[in-house]
Amino acid sequence: MANSETAIAESLGTRFAIVAKDGALALAALNLPKNAAILDVGTGSGNFAIYLAMQGYRVLTGEPATDQTQYAGRDWRATALKAGVLDRIDFAAIDAAKLPFDAKRFDAVFFFGVLHHIPEAQRRAVLHEALRAAKDGGAVVFFEPRRVMLEQLWVEDPKHPLAAKPRLYLPAELRVSEQQIEGEAMDIFIYRKSEGVQG
Ligand SMILES: C[S@@+](CC[C@H](N)C(=O)[O-])C[C@H]1O[C@@H](n2cnc3c(N)ncnc32)[C@H](O)[C@@H]1O
Repeated sequence: MANSETAIAESLGTRFAIVAKDGALALAALNLPKNAAILDVGTGSGNFAIYLAMQGYRVLTGEPATDQTQYAGRDWRATALKAGVLDRIDFAAIDAAKLPFDAKRFDAVFFFGVLHHIPEAQRRAVLHEALRAAKDGGAVVFFEPRRVMLEQLWVEDPKHPLAAKPRLYLPAELRVSEQQIEGEAMDIFIYRKSEGVQG
């Protein structure tokens, strides 16, 4: 990172620094082209979308308009503006269990700190939808909190849910490979859709 980018990243706070560190591990494994079509599911405070935009990607991010929890409806735009990347981020109201996108549209679909906030009964639909929306050869990536991160989250929200295990919700009919990376704060699960499969 150039000095000015480092200064901006530092001004975005410690949570952003955590996102950026583990985000870099995933991006190194994915090797996405700079013009990649990227969906970031679960906007929240916008940390991950902003991190991706700061890496030069154009990002479509979204969360359900109906989410009334403390994790939704945050003023992520002010942070993106501060980071100088608001023009690289588009927002859409979306529900991960029913994505309003054509099949095979995205090179990567990211969920940073999201799957565990979605009720267990909807998680199969969420994986099905994310894999449907990913291109053949594309990736679906989940970041789920490790114990050290959960302990920080429980200080702010004692009811914060435990981490989800994405592999429990994989559609049986799809051929996908899994790569797991141990981040500093998050476990990273990367599912790659084989080329030439249906879905
Ligand atoms: C802790 S926040 C995610 C943090 C965020 N990715 C970041 O980097 O700052 C959890 C997010 O999951 C979203 N979410 C919960 N249920 C969802 C669903 N069914 N579809 C899409 N997003 C959902 C919430 O609205 C919220 O934006």
